[in-house]
Amino acid sequence: MNQLIRNTLRKGLYTSNIIRSFALKLGLIKTDLKSPHLGHLSLYNEYYLRGAAQKEETLFLFSIIKMVRPSIIVEFGFSRGHGSLNFLYAMDHDSKLYSYDISDIAKEIATSTFNDFTNFKYIHKSMLDFLPEDIDNNKIDFLYMDAVVDNDSLNFDTFEKILPNLSENAILAVHDSGTWQKKHFHEFHKEYTVKHGGKGWISDEEYQPRPNQRKFVNRVMEKYQDFEIIHLHSERTIRCGITLLQKRKFLKTASKENDQLTHELSLN
Ligand SMILES: C[S@@+](CC[C@H](N)C(=O)[O-])C[C@H]1O[C@@H](n2cnc3c(N)ncnc32)[C@H](O)[C@@H]1O
Repeated sequence: MNQLIRNTLRKGLYTSNIIRSFALKLGLIKTDLKSPHLGHLSLYNEYYLRGAAQKEETLFLFSIIKMVRPSIIVEFGFSRGHGSLNFLYAMDHDSKLYSYDISDIAKEIATSTFNDFTNFKYIHKSMLDFLPEDIDNNKIDFLYMDAVVDNDSLNFDTFEKILPNLSENAILAVHDSGTWQKKHFHEFHKEYTVKHGGKGWISDEEYQPRPNQRKFVNRVMEKYQDFEIIHLHSERTIRCGITLLQKRKFLKTASKENDQLTHELSLN
């Protein structure tokens, strides 16, 4: 097939759903038809937030679980179960999700709505009272910190308590570590800042909806410099934000020098 025809076909496949469906039906393209099911994302809102992650953040969390395939996931802050539901859709069937909350409504929703998920366990107690037995003495591969707390110490003390229970490559995701830009506000965000006494303004244009999540992240960065940190924040849209943490580690290679470096690093 000449290059011009190839490029025209490719353009059709890249830009038209109809051409893609035809090509699939005719067997012209061979692809994995088992696309991930994302239908549940219609339950998530991008702008009018009720505590859960934004729709686009939810998509990111879904992808990270699909990519990394953590065996044990722990969530602090179940609320109405939006985070849990997303993890359950993304997780492997032999993975397990443990979710903590202290509110009665969370308990009611978890026990009445999530009872068919065999790889889910709701734990009705404060994250600060975490015990390894709660999670069947497993090591945590993915930890989602999304409890709304009155002070950053509750998050920080929980983090320190949980450290020995993290697996070697554990990933931590802290929700609500970002700020909102005033220029992107919808009515909901205006009302939120008024309701919360306007205390979260960093400047005339930038608002922090959850200051304690940010203070917590800063405390971890200050004390635990062996953790790599990436902030998924944006000034180009309303973004509650997620900060990812993972222990710093050199990648093993077949080279002796590199492995020596890895060894020295692990001794420090
Ligand atoms: C922002 S909501 C969580 C949203 C949830 N992850 C979701 O995706 O829908 C915060 C939740 O944290 C819970 N919470 C507050 N303090 C807590 C604590 N010490 N331990 C566990 N959960 C806590 C609250 O009851 C509330 O339901």
